[in-house]
Amino acid sequence: MADNILILDDEKNYLLILESLLEDEGYSVTALSDPETGLAYLEDSEVDVVLTDMKMPKLTGQDVLEHVKKRYPHIPVIIMTAFGSIESAVEAMRIGAFDYITKPFANEELLLTLSKAASYARTQQENVRLRQQIKERFGSGNIIARGRGMQQVLEMVHRAAPSKSTVLIQGESGTGKELIARAIHEASPRSDKPFVSVNCMALNPGVLESELFGHEKGSFTGATSLRKGRFEQASGGTLFLDEIGELSQDVQVKLLRVLQEHQIERVGGTETIDVDVRIVAATNKNLQDAVTKGEFREDLFYRLNVVSLFLPPLRERREDIPFLAQHFLDKYSKENQIEFTGFSASAMDYLSAYEWPGNVRQLENVIERCTVLARGDVIDAEDLPPEIKDEESQFKSAVDLLPARLNIAETMDKIEGALVRRALVRADFVQVKAAEMLGLSKSNLQYKLKKYGLAGKSK
Ligand SMILES: Nc1ncnc2c1ncn2[C@@H]1O[C@H](COP(=O)(O)OP(=O)(O)OP(=O)(O)O)[C@@H](O)[C@H]1O
Ligand SMILES: [Mg+2]
Repeated sequence: MADNILILDDEKNYLLILESLLEDEGYSVTALSDPETGLAYLEDSEVDVVLTDMKMPKLTGQDVLEHVKKRYPHIPVIIMTAFGSIESAVEAMRIGAFDYITKPFANEELLLTLSKAASYARTQQENVRLRQQIKERFGSGNIIARGRGMQQVLEMVHRAAPSKSTVLIQGESGTGKELIARAIHEASPRSDKPFVSVNCMALNPGVLESELFGHEKGSFTGATSLRKGRFEQASGGTLFLDEIGELSQDVQVKLLRVLQEHQIERVGGTETIDVDVRIVAATNKNLQDAVTKGEFREDLFYRLNVVSLFLPPLRERREDIPFLAQHFLDKYSKENQIEFTGFSASAMDYLSAYEWPGNVRQLENVIERCTVLARGDVIDAEDLPPEIKDEESQFKSAVDLLPARLNIAETMDKIEGALVRRALVRADFVQVKAAEMLGLSKSNLQYKLKKYGLAGKSK
């Protein structure tokens, strides 16, 4: 189906030209010269991308952008600005425009930007659809998955849930392994049967064995009565084996037998009992490495790793951070009955750039702490704990975002150019202010402005 583009521009001739250009490209176009009619149109039509002029009577492009961001956050907005009004374009980007384009522009430039926006719109719609499905199936929409990485995990959850296949979830501590294990159970036909969780690390091997398989009365000192193990408790449902990498060799052998035969024997018992249990296992170790080192049985590894899920560390899916942060802010605001509206831009900058060695759990703890200690109704940089604001780690994560194979001199130039440009915008294009921010003399700044083609844009 063709993407629907809504174009808003008060210049009617221009509108006609754009309309025919985009229609020739196969887009379905609605071109309106009155922005207010445009907003009404959004109300009851399926629009994929909004392309709006900045300067219009009645409503500006910025008003349109703000309205769309609030009501239809998944629709990308491209702003068209007149040459020389870079400030308003920068402001539009800050509010959340998908991109801006300066008039007059080449057709190819517009078409390229538009096709990017249209494909972004499609993934957004797909996300909305997936999240909706997950919400329906899991009964709660509490898994935040904005970026591609976590979306793929959720797709796997969906595909794996209906079967009885064993799932192995790997990922660093705090990445959400238990949350995903529960999601698999909730999305499976076993969801009305128990989800039973065992932490394999917390118990010594002997205790773990009777915990898993149960024991007969009198099988060892202290076994004063028959006890059903977790396998039996989970009957018909899902057994979550957490920290599976910590299993002793002895228990590994026993677990392997259960997986092969679907039968258990209680400790001290002689009877074999059939069990119908789906196994989901998790570890923050690299299990393949453990196999290579001889610490984990290879045959057991393959039995467990039928469906393999890997949860990326938070620093490799930074696009999730703002949404997770807001999610936890809502959660703890409710719990503590304090209204927080959101984060200041600089607080969000810090959160987005931090390395998060403790992943989502650490982020959750930081936000919880903020909701207890923050003074205003917006979480500001000063409310964040000091480790989040460590400059070294910020710098490292900025560099992590750059492509790996780069020429140092060219890269330094690009970074310098970007820093100068940013300082200029933040200094409202006043050179003295920008020079001070950057720690440069005025003449040195002027030299750099020339070097990076920014000379004409400041006062
Ligand atoms: N994508 C997510 N959306 C919302 N909350 C999340 C997400 N991922 C993790 N969390 C939350 O973060 C916390 C840690 O997640 P969880 O306990 O599942 O991590 P884990 O990988 O099992 O950690 P560990 O290895 O330390 O046991 C939980 O409170 C969980 O609800
Ligand atoms: Mg866990």
